[in-house]
Amino acid sequence: MYQEESKYFQVPVTLYPTDHRLPLPKVKDNSLQKIMKERRSPTSRIYGSITLEELSSILFSAHGIVEDVHRRMIPSAGGTHPLEIYILAWDVDGLENGTYHHNVLDNTLVKLGDVPPIDDILTTLNHFKDSAVMLVYSLILPRTTAKYGERGYRFAILEAGHSVQNVHLQATQLGLQSCEIGSFFDDVVCRLIGADGVDHVIGTVNVIARSKE
Ligand SMILES: Cc1cc2nc3c(=O)[nH]c(=O)nc-3n(C[C@H](O)[C@H](O)[C@H](O)COP(=O)(O)O)c2cc1C
Repeated sequence: MYQEESKYFQVPVTLYPTDHRLPLPKVKDNSLQKIMKERRSPTSRIYGSITLEELSSILFSAHGIVEDVHRRMIPSAGGTHPLEIYILAWDVDGLENGTYHHNVLDNTLVKLGDVPPIDDILTTLNHFKDSAVMLVYSLILPRTTAKYGERGYRFAILEAGHSVQNVHLQATQLGLQSCEIGSFFDDVVCRLIGADGVDHVIGTVNVIARSKE
């Protein structure tokens, strides 16, 4: 379970007992780091619809194809691409509410069915009950483990991390709120997207909305 109170229990850094510390040059401002610095997980209620255009930008940043199916917006161990992205849409202008799969090949959405209330998906609602969408980063593990064996599990989870960070940064640049969520019911999300929870599993999820209080 996600525990707000445990976050600042101790300072999570490693310190070596030495005076020999090499100072690094001062970081010069650059536009990418500006967005990285602006990114924050919301700590109050998020709400408000996003547009289909914004969703499209977000999905392209998440794993869009740049040249061909092997050259995408995120790195992938051995080009095995275990990642699939699903969208649970509650409040996207111009998009019927529902559960969708993002077909990365032709950048289309395929509706798989309805979407339940977010209360059925999150174990702790916190400030996310009025989220506009949830992105589900699922992993088809055999795509990667077939090549790398057990190490493929690590590689697949890393890929979900690459993708969700791109999404946080893209959402920040668009002025939207984005928060990764650990407190969701795995079985509910698996059922929604047709994952078996063994070979096809959930890597992570995040919610997005326009504003925060
Ligand atoms: C894997 C993961 C799971 C998280 N789960 C939750 C969550 O369930 N609820 C929540 O409010 N924040 C969640 N967060 C956000 C963290 O609390 C947040 O990233 C952390 O406090 C640091 O703040 P920052 O993102 O603003 O830098 C999660 C973050 C990660 C990476």
